[in-house]
Amino acid sequence: MIKATNKNIEYIETVEEAELYDEILKLKKEKNAVILAHFYQEPVIQKIADFVGDSLALSQKAANTEAEIIVFAGVHFMAETAKIINPTKKVIIPDLEAGCSLAESCPPDAFKIFKDQHPDHTVITYINCSAEIKALSDIVCTSSNAEKIVNSIPKETPIIFAPDKNLGKYLIDKTGRDLLLWDGVCIVHEAFSIDKIIALHNKNPEAKFIAHPESNPEILKIASYIGSTSGMINHVKESSDTEFIVATEAGILYRMQQEVPNKTLIPAPAKEDNTCACSECAFMKMNTLKKLYLCLKNESPEIDVPKEIREKAIIPIQRMLELSK
Ligand code: 13P
Ligand code: SF4
Repeated sequence: MIKATNKNIEYIETVEEAELYDEILKLKKEKNAVILAHFYQEPVIQKIADFVGDSLALSQKAANTEAEIIVFAGVHFMAETAKIINPTKKVIIPDLEAGCSLAESCPPDAFKIFKDQHPDHTVITYINCSAEIKALSDIVCTSSNAEKIVNSIPKETPIIFAPDKNLGKYLIDKTGRDLLLWDGVCIVHEAFSIDKIIALHNKNPEAKFIAHPESNPEILKIASYIGSTSGMINHVKESSDTEFIVATEAGILYRMQQEVPNKTLIPAPAKEDNTCACSECAFMKMNTLKKLYLCLKNESPEIDVPKEIREKAIIPIQRMLELSK
């Protein structure tokens, strides 16, 4: 019989969830496992995780963990990156189907043809891509270090940037470099409605509009701040403003509100009306407390990356980690 001690934990609604919560904590200790979670995860998953962060911080954490098992509460490419960094550790994910539209928008065969057409180009890939794409890359980046990574490449060297064309266009603006872009997008950040955002801003004229660089150029044009998920959280914390319209996946609001309990945070509206009137990543939301419990209990589904891909993919990831110290 599982003893539920966490009935009062915020976001736990049923006795079953409270039991699962306790059981996860127990299993985690028994198995020397660490739970890493992205800011887009459900609040209860962020709450139980040992560490919550953006893509860069999560890969840095994965590179430094002493745990024997890494439970990755995020999407597939994140868990895959953790496995490439830690080939001898067991890396598990609550739902193997938790993919990413950006990663899917860049199939390895087509990307290899594109790369071969431009043999003089250095290939920078956004971390939101498969291990196969990383294996074809010179250096990886995330949204928090992309500008630095682009600037680290000598000015005379032409660059391919993949798979996110919106982040790519933003980097062209920021760095003045002429990047050759792959035509990929994140369906979540593509979904924001400029008209609804302007209407919302008219109703809340004091609110500052902040956005993730995966958003469309027309959205980024009206943003007072553009940054990664951790960049956005830090900005809201450090700003003297007290009201914000936030254009990224709505899961970020949980951590953001904890950091700034007295500020008003309004999720940016998406084109289509959905349950939250905001933008949610269906892939990120595939992970649940129950699946987290089952994956830790069964040590499955496990992430596996074939050796020949892993050994190539680690090189551009290590380059990024070195440059981000
Ligand atoms: P960051 O957390 O690196 O800003 O990335 C956002 C994202 O879309 C992750 O999939
Ligand atoms: Fe991929 Fe977009 Fe979901 Fe991030 S929010 S995991 S980029 S689909």
